[in-house]
Amino acid sequence: MTATAASAGLFARAQTVLPSGYTRHLAVTKPHPQYAAHGEGCWITDVDGNRRIDFINNFAALIHGHAHPAITQLIAEQSSRLLCSILPSEWEVKLAELLVERIPSVEQVRFMNTGTEAVMLAVKVARAHTGRSKIAKMEGGYHGQFDLIEASFQPPPDRWGDPARPTPVAHSVGTPQSLLDELILLPLNDLEHSRARLRAEASQLAAVIIDPYRLQLGLVEPTREYLTMLREETARLGIVLIFDEVFCLRTSYHGTQGAVGVTPDLTTMGKIIGGGLPIGAVGGKRELMTVFDVDRGDPKVKQSGTFTANPLSTAVGYLGMSLLTPAAFDDLAAKGERLREGLERVRKDLGIVGRVEGRASFSSLVMTDLPTRNYRELAIAMAGLGEKLVTYQKLLAAEGVLTMRGGFIGSTPMTDDDIDFTIAAVRRALVKLHA
Ligand SMILES: Cc1ncc(COP(=O)(O)O)c(C=O)c1O
Repeated sequence: MTATAASAGLFARAQTVLPSGYTRHLAVTKPHPQYAAHGEGCWITDVDGNRRIDFINNFAALIHGHAHPAITQLIAEQSSRLLCSILPSEWEVKLAELLVERIPSVEQVRFMNTGTEAVMLAVKVARAHTGRSKIAKMEGGYHGQFDLIEASFQPPPDRWGDPARPTPVAHSVGTPQSLLDELILLPLNDLEHSRARLRAEASQLAAVIIDPYRLQLGLVEPTREYLTMLREETARLGIVLIFDEVFCLRTSYHGTQGAVGVTPDLTTMGKIIGGGLPIGAVGGKRELMTVFDVDRGDPKVKQSGTFTANPLSTAVGYLGMSLLTPAAFDDLAAKGERLREGLERVRKDLGIVGRVEGRASFSSLVMTDLPTRNYRELAIAMAGLGEKLVTYQKLLAAEGVLTMRGGFIGSTPMTDDDIDFTIAAVRRALVKLHA
C-alpha cells in the first residue's frame, strides 16, 4: 500500500490558496498528488516516504537526474559568488559557445528564462526578419504557453474543420480571434496538403515552427521526408523555419536536427541547457540574429529581462551540457534501447495490442495498433484509452515508477539494474491493468 497521509494533508491546505490546489495542470492527479520531498540520482522520494524511479525528469529537463554531485556543488559555489546582476557574466559566453559548437543551425544565441519565452522570441525574430506576420505550426503541436502558439494543441474533433486546412481553436477561453487569424495549421506528415498551404500563404507567412522529434508527449514523429519538404519549401518561399528543440535537443549531441540531418534557420532550446534550472534560448544563423544588433542604431527586436542569462542558470547549464559528452549520449541511447526491448518483450508476452516507440532517451508503449501519423489519427486512436492510461500511470507509481501516461524519459544516472527494475514493474502493472 502506498502511504499518502502527508500528501493528503498538504493538498487540503493547497486547495485553499491555489486554484483547485494546483499550479501546473499537468501535475493534476486524483484524488491528490504526492508531494515531493527530495531526489537523488534517478530516484525521487515523496513526503510520505515512497521512493520511485523518475521517468518524467521534470518533463525532460533533468537529464542528469536529481542532485548530481557536480551540479549541486557548482550551484553552491556560484550562488555564493553571484546570483544575478546587470553585468553579463562569462558563463553566458561559455554556454553560447558550447551551443554554437554543437547545434548545426546555431551561429549566435540569445538567452531567456523558459522554453515558452524562447518560442515567443523566435516568433518576433521571424516577423522582424520577413516583415510578415503569420505563423504556421502543426495541428496538435506543443510549443509552450502563450495564446497564439498554444491554440490547437488539443482541439476537440467537432472543431477540427477541413483536414487540409485545419481550423485554429483557442486553447484558453478569451483568446482573441484576431490572434487565431494569425495562425496557420498544417497537417503533420501530409506532404501534399502542407506544401499547398505553405505556397498559398507564403506572402503573409513569417515562420513555420515544428518540434522535429514529436507532436505530443512522445507520440507521432515527423518523417524525415516531411522535415525535408518543410526545409525546401520554406527556403524557396522566404519563410523562416524554426525547429523547436526545447524538448528534443536531448536526442543527440547535435540535437534532433543533427540526428535527422535537416538544418532549420532558427532553433529554440530550453530544459536540458539549464542543467535543471530555468532557461530558454534562441539560436540561429547570423543573418537572422542581426535583428538584435545595436551596432547600426535601434535593434529590430528589443529583448532584455530581469533574470535573462543569469550566471546561475548559465553556469549550471554549461556544466550540465559539458557532462553530456558523445559517450553520455550513446549511454542514454543504449539504456533507452534496453528499456524498449524490455517493453516489447512484456507487450508480446502479455498479448497487448500496440507497439513500442521511441528514440534515444524517450520510450513509450503505445497501446493501439491504429496509425498515428498526425494529430487527428492520434486523437482517434487514443479516444477510448484516457481512463486506461490514467490507471496504468497509477499502477506504475504504485510499483515505484513515475511516468507521464506511460511515457519514459531517461536520465544519465540510470543503470541497467534500474532499467530492469522498471521493465519488471511495467510487467506487474500491465498484468494488473488487464486483470
Ligand atoms: C517543444 C516544447 N516547446 C516549448 C516548451 C515550453 O517550455 P517551458 O515549459 O520551459 O516554457 C516545451 C515544454 O514542454 C516543449 O516541449
